[in-house]
Amino acid sequence: MAHTYDDPVKALSREKLRDWIRQRLAMKRPRDLRVLCFPGAEQEGQEALEVKEVYDPLGIPRKNIVGLEQDRQKAERLRTANLGIEVVNASDIDYFSQCGRKFDIISLDYTGQRGRETIDAIALIASRQRFTSWSILCTNHYAKQEPKTRQQFLESLALLNTPLDARTIAEISSTDNPRFAYIMHRMETLKDSHVPLAEARDLFTHEVIRVLSYGEEASDKVAGERNDFLFWYPGAQEQRKTLREICKSDVIAVDLEHAWHLDHFRRYVAPYFGRSPEEPQSHLLMDVLRMAFIHSYMAQSIARYGYQSNSGAKMEMDIFEVKTLDRLFDRIRHMLHCVETPEGKIHTIDTKTDPRKLQNGINAMADEIRKWSHVYWLGTLPKREYLGSSYHPQRGHSESTHDA
Ligand SMILES: C[S@@+](CC[C@H](N)C(=O)[O-])C[C@H]1O[C@@H](n2cnc3c(N)ncnc32)[C@H](O)[C@@H]1O
Repeated sequence: MAHTYDDPVKALSREKLRDWIRQRLAMKRPRDLRVLCFPGAEQEGQEALEVKEVYDPLGIPRKNIVGLEQDRQKAERLRTANLGIEVVNASDIDYFSQCGRKFDIISLDYTGQRGRETIDAIALIASRQRFTSWSILCTNHYAKQEPKTRQQFLESLALLNTPLDARTIAEISSTDNPRFAYIMHRMETLKDSHVPLAEARDLFTHEVIRVLSYGEEASDKVAGERNDFLFWYPGAQEQRKTLREICKSDVIAVDLEHAWHLDHFRRYVAPYFGRSPEEPQSHLLMDVLRMAFIHSYMAQSIARYGYQSNSGAKMEMDIFEVKTLDRLFDRIRHMLHCVETPEGKIHTIDTKTDPRKLQNGINAMADEIRKWSHVYWLGTLPKREYLGSSYHPQRGHSESTHDA
């Protein structure tokens, strides 16, 4: 039977996305919303069901929608259907590498499984700042039968995303470069651990949250994250030395440039607020400013669904409400200056600034970050809601081995 996305349980998943957008982006006018999605064009006459079932009922104009399709024939089918959307024949990674637009909704309804491509696409969205300050991200993946290499990738990523205790979080955020410290910590403590595949798939939601939170730094990842071998390299000390050497080399100079070193700023800013640089409050202060400067995207609320499609594929869909600190940061940005020095960029505070005003501005951002860290650090992901199945196996057939 020909493959089709005209599928009752898939329609229900679109309904969930539609309702989530309606609730979460209620303060924005539909005519102002910009959308990027994979509309799909599996069959003639069934083009862009996502556009018809999600964005049309919300009143989002078709001209605001970019429909990405990497397959040339399907892209052509979408164009011929003359839907009024902008059809782009490209992969998401190619598109996000080049395009300079921002979107309120990005829906990546993949046919395949979770893996590096999704992370790379999301890293590009974050580092190139493709979201507006309040947006929705939706991902959908086939959640079974990954090839072995993909399974290993998911399992190694999962090590970066198992929950941390409060003391370790505090220790990491007190270091000069928390991101580096975080990777080092995970590599040292978890190198012999193993996360079962089902859990690793589930923790992918955390990986998305983590990568989004890197904001502009997201695609210049520390070497240890990119090179899986470092996770399994025998001997933590040797590993540490290797990573240090790699980070010093010219090859990833960009990483060093982008990795935030906080000591200097902490020593400078903390006394300004009458604090010692070692106090936990000073570390919090730095976290807030760092996330504002790198334009972190914070996934503050999440919904997760699962269903079995008409082809028998087990699909898992995540929806994220993503915010930045931009609006709050704009209120205090003029109080902070960035000065170039021989050691790199250093931030200073305008001498005319009232410390109370700056503190209030930082507190407001800290409140936003708390909502995000509740989701992220405390690992409180919502349970995946099962939407049902539209699979009707033919006699003698078990579940399909095909992608969605
Ligand atoms: C699951 S279908 C989309 C279904 C559609 N969203 C719906 O609700 O009916 C995914 C479509 O996107 C295309 N696609 C998959 N991965 C892609 C990628 N990384 N970049 C661009 N297009 C992609 C596939 O060729 C396919 O036509």
